[in-house]
Amino acid sequence: MALVEKMKRLKEQRRAVILAHNYQIPEVQDCADFVGDSLELSIKAAKTDAEVIVFCGVHFMAETAKILSPGKTVLLPDKNAGCPMADMITAEDLRALKAEHPGAKVLCYVNTSAEVKAECDLCCTSANAVRMVGEVLKDAEEIIFVPDRYLAAFVAGKTGREFIIWPGFCPTHARILPEHIEAARALHPGAVVMVHPECRPEVAAIADKVISTGGMSRYARETPAREIIVGTEPGIIHRLRKENPGKIFHPISDTVICPNMKKTTLEKILWSLEDMTHRIEVPDQIAARARRSIETMLNIGR
Ligand code: 13P
Ligand code: SF4
Repeated sequence: MALVEKMKRLKEQRRAVILAHNYQIPEVQDCADFVGDSLELSIKAAKTDAEVIVFCGVHFMAETAKILSPGKTVLLPDKNAGCPMADMITAEDLRALKAEHPGAKVLCYVNTSAEVKAECDLCCTSANAVRMVGEVLKDAEEIIFVPDRYLAAFVAGKTGREFIIWPGFCPTHARILPEHIEAARALHPGAVVMVHPECRPEVAAIADKVISTGGMSRYARETPAREIIVGTEPGIIHRLRKENPGKIFHPISDTVICPNMKKTTLEKILWSLEDMTHRIEVPDQIAARARRSIETMLNIGR
């Protein structure tokens, strides 16, 4: 029996749902029940009535799903699919930073471990960070924002707030440089440039649009532009082309691959359903504290 058929059968037997991030390889996106950005995937994970969630993404995303659905089995098909940015700060690092700023509210990007989320007041994704600061934290005198210094700079620019930051960054998005935008514009005059808020400030400053991957999918649909330069992990281009057959998408550069997002394959999804591996577990006490910061975010919405 073909691999995809086997997977579908087993998925039904296990009462499983397959969630995939926008950066996953095309075959994985095509076999998923839902493809989206970090925020959309968290919402799906919280609402699904499936018994098993197969998370095609990276570790912190599967962990967020487990925190929101503690009674479900959450599987990460490749246990080594991590996020180097999330690994740049530990709970101990954050506790030390909090001790230096005892009155500060703590906002954490969803790209963090459960232990780090447990130390925070509020969680955000790149789709809602500006709203979290402008609405939920509007009365906070001091705000610690971890771990992405570039996302923090973007939100600071949008809200006029200053943050106590952690010098983390996404090694994939940090590879995008202003000269890549200039070269792409010279090659495709008239194309609009959209980049992710994890990009360097000097890159965000010259883009036409700075948005999450979910925002990119909406913007690509709505913009009258026929050609779009995509300043993020190029996995999303598969989805953008499917959704907009009349438009042309150009990756900003060939170097913006996130190796962790490419670890999940159809075979690994099948094996994960066969063996029910790799199960994501979060200790109850950590999960309860982390859940508060994520649920506060979800209650506010996009
Ligand atoms: P999105 O929430 O925009 O999908 O981003 C997730 C991510 O890891 C970007 O590098
Ligand atoms: Fe982490 Fe960057 Fe990969 Fe997103 S693209 S998972 S932030 S390393």
